[in-house]
Amino acid sequence: MFAGPVEFLKGVVAMDGLPPADRIEVCFAGRSNVGKSSLINALTGRKALARASNTPGRTQEINFFTVGESHYLVDLPGYGYAEAPVAVVAKWQQLLKAYLSGRQTLRRAFVLIDMRHGVKAVDEEIMTLLDRSAVTFQVVMTKADKIKTSDHAQVLDQVRRALARHPAAYPEIVLTSSEKGLGIETLRAIIATLE
Ligand code: GTP
Ligand code: MG
Repeated sequence: MFAGPVEFLKGVVAMDGLPPADRIEVCFAGRSNVGKSSLINALTGRKALARASNTPGRTQEINFFTVGESHYLVDLPGYGYAEAPVAVVAKWQQLLKAYLSGRQTLRRAFVLIDMRHGVKAVDEEIMTLLDRSAVTFQVVMTKADKIKTSDHAQVLDQVRRALARHPAAYPEIVLTSSEKGLGIETLRAIIATLE
């Protein structure tokens, strides 16, 4: 399906703005700056499809991308951005909850974790929300190029321990670097097999 055309469909700020639930859908969640937009760009082979930036909290809307005829890729706003106004955070949490629990066609959520930081408290919160919404989630480690290979095992152990506490977690962890193209083909294959 990644061979098909890729397009930005729309940015959504409320439930009534969601596109029709007529395709297989996967979403990308993660802390601000973890590399969600960069990962979507890498997956689709488009350099600037999803906006990636150095400014945390850049992606504020739920952004829908179509891939071929059959799939939506969904870029969620980053969480855990300390400087975001309280009202903005509250509105976003409400929308996220509604989206995760109400979207029939959502097949899997990918929870992105920065290889340098491991699972933080805010990631635990999202994972708990996914458990409660009964959305299967899979962890994608990002920025693998930023730490030494010899440090990988320790971070992955911490992630595995965290996942063991979450019933909705899919056990396989995917290691990626959008910068180096690592793990991108693996992730494409995973998405392509979801039905
Ligand atoms: P928000 O939309 O603000 O939540 O951020 P995001 O999760 O979409 O992150 P984004 O893709 O904008 O990336 C944030 C920064 O990390 C950018 O400067 C990217 O270039 C950088 N980055 C993303 N992925 C990688 C990676 O695999 N390796 C390295 N070295 N840098 C990366
Ligand atoms: Mg983004």
